[in-house]
Amino acid sequence: MTSFFEVILKRRSIRKFRDQEVEEDKIRKIVEAGIWAPSAGNMQPWVFVVVRNKKNIEKIKAMSPGMFDLPAVIIAVCRDMGLAGNFEENISIFDVAMAAQNMLLMACDLGLGACPVRSFNQKAVQVLLDLPEHIVPELLVTLGYPDESPSPPERRKGVVFLEKYGGDGWF
Ligand SMILES: Cc1cc2nc3c(=O)[nH]c(=O)nc-3n(C[C@H](O)[C@H](O)[C@H](O)COP(=O)(O)O)c2cc1C
Repeated sequence: MTSFFEVILKRRSIRKFRDQEVEEDKIRKIVEAGIWAPSAGNMQPWVFVVVRNKKNIEKIKAMSPGMFDLPAVIIAVCRDMGLAGNFEENISIFDVAMAAQNMLLMACDLGLGACPVRSFNQKAVQVLLDLPEHIVPELLVTLGYPDESPSPPERRKGVVFLEKYGGDGWF
């Protein structure tokens, strides 16, 4: 079994996919992992739209300069601004980001490739997916069987300090 830390290290942004369907039980597990993310004040201000229809995927890709291949699935990670407003509006962006990260790690653990994509036309995707005004698509998670295995980009060093900024640190 892959350890949790191995999954964290193994996860890469995958931008090239095989032309192969993703099993529904895997997609369900991925969105369920998103649902179990933490959220400020337990507002759970997220909405996920799973897109599997090839024509819709092609349309979304055409609206997304940051998407480089056709994935088998796109999960639109949306923020419910109605719920977000009940707490502290800006903080809810963390909540949807954490849900997205849970999904990326789950996808990796299931042997799938995924990439978070922010470079897309939010308004156009909102219209295409029939999202009401207060449901804002914040991130697209592209999903599929990977057709590449990119080497890990190096991590910046000198970003962990002990007790005070600028002092001794780790890494
Ligand atoms: C908020 C956010 C937005 C991103 N948007 C895009 C995007 O539009 N297109 C893309 O190809 N990658 C996108 N990425 C993926 C990053 O480029 C990637 O995480 C980074 O290069 C590090 O690589 P790794 O994920 O393999 O560790 C995004 C990542 C984050 C966290």
